[in-house]
Amino acid sequence: MPLVSSKQILLKALKNKYAIGAFNINNLEMAQAVIEAATEENAPVIVQVSQGAINYAGISVIRKMIKALADKTHIPVVLHYDHGKNIDQNIICLANGFTSLMFDGSSLPLKENISKSKKIAEIAHLCGIPVEAELGKVPHQGVSDNKLKEMLTNPSQAKSFIRKTNVDSLAIAIGSIHSQCANQSVLDIERLKEINREIPEIPLVLHGSSGVNDDSIRESLCYGMCKINVGTCLIQIFSESVKKYIEMNPDVIDPRKYLEAGKLAMKEEVKRKIRLFASNQIIH
Ligand code: G3H
Ligand code: ZN
Repeated sequence: MPLVSSKQILLKALKNKYAIGAFNINNLEMAQAVIEAATEENAPVIVQVSQGAINYAGISVIRKMIKALADKTHIPVVLHYDHGKNIDQNIICLANGFTSLMFDGSSLPLKENISKSKKIAEIAHLCGIPVEAELGKVPHQGVSDNKLKEMLTNPSQAKSFIRKTNVDSLAIAIGSIHSQCANQSVLDIERLKEINREIPEIPLVLHGSSGVNDDSIRESLCYGMCKINVGTCLIQIFSESVKKYIEMNPDVIDPRKYLEAGKLAMKEEVKRKIRLFASNQIIH
């Protein structure tokens, strides 16, 4: 089917207490792994690309590639721009057929985060495209415990942020950290509950999910967590499998062979995540 907007599928997830997997991809094999896994699990899925992925592959190659893969499947596929740091890049994605955007103003002063998130939402909404913003900051690996605490999302600020910006979904900082390996973080579920109480109508987004333990993820689904971003663990699994294949088959020079090994391993992990997020068997 054609690419779909993230708006309706996130609202449906919110109502039914599951989360859509949002998986970062950089190349054809990673995109195939995500869309094939979601197809086999009958799950709606968000394929997301960072600015780095766009610089690597080219924006029109990405859009055409994801669109072609989406056309072949019966599940809804969203093409999402992840961690857009400025207005121009978001507008370029909008003009290039992305069906979901993110403005990440988490490093900016609050006032500037609000004004820029609002502006992008206004423009994107004219084209019927939803926008995710970030309040608080999900840091990168290596952050100290004290710094991490300072960056957590303030629940009452979340309410006024949504009112002032009119964004469609909100990435929140509740203890996850970008670029970690499995099972290193436990989420602050009490904070999540408070945020969900303040803005029950808004789908919440978890970044840095590779490092979050499975029980925290399961619990978060009850309190508005609707989009769960996964990147690092997929890259790890993909690369480990390619390396292993080459080690065991040193004479093979056909990239299709070793990239297929990466793709299959990544596909299994995407399927496991989709089941963890309870978004399997949603599409019939
Ligand atoms: O925006 C992307 C995600 O937050 C991915 O985080 O690489 O730690 O899984 P991760
Ligand atoms: Zn992120």
